[in-house]
Amino acid sequence: MPVNLHGKSFLKLLDFTPAQIRYLIDLAKDFKSLKRTGTPHRRLEGKNIALLFEKTSTRTRCAFEVAGRDLGIDVVYLDPGSSQLGKKESLADTAKVLGRMFDGIEYRGFGQELVEELAKHSGVPVWNGLTNEFHPTQMLADLMTIEEVFGFCEGISLTYMGDARFNTGNSLMVLSAKMGMDFTVCAPKSLWPGEELINTCRSIAEETGASINLTEDVMEGTSNADVIYTDVWVSMGEPDEVWEERIQMLKPYQVNAQVMANAAPDAIFMHCLPSFHDLNTTIGKQIHEKFGITEMEVTDEVFSSPQSVVFDEAENRMHTIKAVIYATLG
Ligand code: CP
Ligand code: NVA
Repeated sequence: MPVNLHGKSFLKLLDFTPAQIRYLIDLAKDFKSLKRTGTPHRRLEGKNIALLFEKTSTRTRCAFEVAGRDLGIDVVYLDPGSSQLGKKESLADTAKVLGRMFDGIEYRGFGQELVEELAKHSGVPVWNGLTNEFHPTQMLADLMTIEEVFGFCEGISLTYMGDARFNTGNSLMVLSAKMGMDFTVCAPKSLWPGEELINTCRSIAEETGASINLTEDVMEGTSNADVIYTDVWVSMGEPDEVWEERIQMLKPYQVNAQVMANAAPDAIFMHCLPSFHDLNTTIGKQIHEKFGITEMEVTDEVFSSPQSVVFDEAENRMHTIKAVIYATLG
């Protein structure tokens, strides 16, 4: 069946079929080669999009801005403090206003229900640039990166170490289920994804040949994995008070040389970024002063090793986001 995503919002991968996800990745690959060869592709001239961020961002914002401009689109960025949203105007009213002026809206914020609400009221495609629950544009970049390395994704085993209840862990589980990958959560049980989402992914996996595994055992969870993936131990929007407990819980799940040696010989290391792998950040320094640790979810050695593909993932954010914008507005 031909794929047509025109007019569709991109809110979470659960809303998309494997064929639709494949279509977006193929489109992103085409856009990447156009970019690499310097071939102009201003195919959406005259369109306008708004980027609405209630949390900070480097990659997602820049990816949307550059992708939009490459396509000939005018892009307006609204930061957390500079619109009426929340303080003087509801999300529903904001959605109705923006929908009258823009052809598409990117939203980064807190609960998933907010981005769903924006899509319901705006009448134009809405793209989820990260919520507490899901980070779907990150998943496209990760899938593209995995396929660039291995040539395919079916049967690739991906282990996620860290807080798997949040956006990145949840989304990797959905991605793996949809695309026929073997997904393992390697984390303390209290940080596993919610049972409902696990069950949903397991039933998708029955159709696609994927598998969903959960373990607290580091050596079992990382044994022979093709991809070791981690994320920050405390996510945007969480209170500072959770740091102490989270560090204690997740210290044994740090991605280090021992973990990589236990994975497959040609395993890669992935991280959505930003990452605390050294002391070159304000928060990294504060945590060091308070708790004495110099690296958190990944050692600097692994982060900087040839197995690390983190900056390929970051670049692929732009190509995949361009595919999403083009597929839904084009
Ligand atoms: N990975 C990611 O979403 O990065 P930003 O927070 O910089 O957008
Ligand atoms: N889990 C992280 C992802 C950042 C891209 C956060 O929500 O802060």
